[in-house]
Amino acid sequence: MRHRPMVDVGLLTALLRDPRAVVALPRPGQYLVESARGALRWLLGLLRTRRGGKPLRVGVQAFTCRVTLQAIGQSGNRAVLHDIDTDYYSAPRGALGDPDVDVLILTHLYGIPHPDYVEIASVCRAKDIILIDDACLTRGSSIDGIEVGTQSDYALHSLGFDKPVSAYAGGELLDNRGDIRETQITEWPEPSAAADKADLVRLLVCEHLSEPQRYRANAMDLLVPWSRPLFWLNARGVLQVSLTKALCAGTRIGAFRPIERTGRRLTRARLGKRPVGRFQRMGPRRRSYALTMIERHARARQIHQRAKRQAEAKIRSKFPDVHIPSPAQKADCSWHRMPVLTADDHQRSALLAWLRSHDIEGSCSWPLDVITGNVTSAGERPQRFPNSLRVAQLMINVPVWSEKIWDF
Ligand SMILES: Cc1ncc(COP(=O)(O)O)c(C=O)c1O
Repeated sequence: MRHRPMVDVGLLTALLRDPRAVVALPRPGQYLVESARGALRWLLGLLRTRRGGKPLRVGVQAFTCRVTLQAIGQSGNRAVLHDIDTDYYSAPRGALGDPDVDVLILTHLYGIPHPDYVEIASVCRAKDIILIDDACLTRGSSIDGIEVGTQSDYALHSLGFDKPVSAYAGGELLDNRGDIRETQITEWPEPSAAADKADLVRLLVCEHLSEPQRYRANAMDLLVPWSRPLFWLNARGVLQVSLTKALCAGTRIGAFRPIERTGRRLTRARLGKRPVGRFQRMGPRRRSYALTMIERHARARQIHQRAKRQAEAKIRSKFPDVHIPSPAQKADCSWHRMPVLTADDHQRSALLAWLRSHDIEGSCSWPLDVITGNVTSAGERPQRFPNSLRVAQLMINVPVWSEKIWDF
């Protein structure tokens, strides 16, 4: 078992044949766009303009995806970093007001809602701090019945390949304030019908390629985004091959071991050069697919909870002292990966080997250099964020997608 989203091949095929096979429309204030990072960059730029053009101080946790920090920088604002609590992988409430920020990005990771979500939202309202939920890895979880993404001014979900709901790539921006004018988003270009179709084909190709018997490398370990698979079809339907990813894949099957390092370097160099967050809307076919899957995910939440409890019991029976987050009692979590924190490198390797013996691929989310990169890009010293660094070093993501898998 590996980190792969649930893809509905039947629905994809139907939409590829006929764009009207399923027509789903977003609700008011829900915008489906090319990526969450693009939406964040655009939104932070808009907020900055609205507040007179001066760079805003944007609070965000150090343990987060590097593209979030990039979006803050590229929108001309300044990141103010916070460390995380290892019981819920978000910044503790007490740390958030210090120092004062103009915007707070509250990150909910791995399906775990921030236990003080509602209180934080009301403090932000009282202090005139704009609250943005980064729920890219947490869709549909709630605290005391209040769903993540509903109490903030704006919320973001990602639809990338390893996210709770995938549309191959993409993002969802929710405007809870209702102050983004529809036309501000509809001015963004929409892909051509051919490109819209090609995106669905990409998802289909990714779905097939990422089956373990076809593609043995674990993409999360390789630092290669799923949105750049080994092969893909361009907008004209021509097959493209990623040389760098092919090199990395080759190293996993032992074919090109000597060039492993070169492959990884090339991959990193290319990642660095990737244009971050085009402002483009999602095409109608892919939007219909995404909206249908979003709806379905909401209904499957209980299954995720059960699957997580099963996985946790199995791990605990073998490794009683690993740290698995214990979210607040009142939290209703949605899971698709479970973060497991080990005591040291030795225990980490033992857990990974045990998982592998059961055909489960553990992986890390963001390697240490992503987190140190985040910290240094904000002009801070890594030592100020000990939990973020420890988690980046010793955490393993365990895939939890369905309850059957853990039945051994
Ligand atoms: C916590 C978090 N925020 C933001 C993003 C960016 O999402 P996207 O890839 O859709 O731009 C990601 C994606 O990995 C993420 O994990």
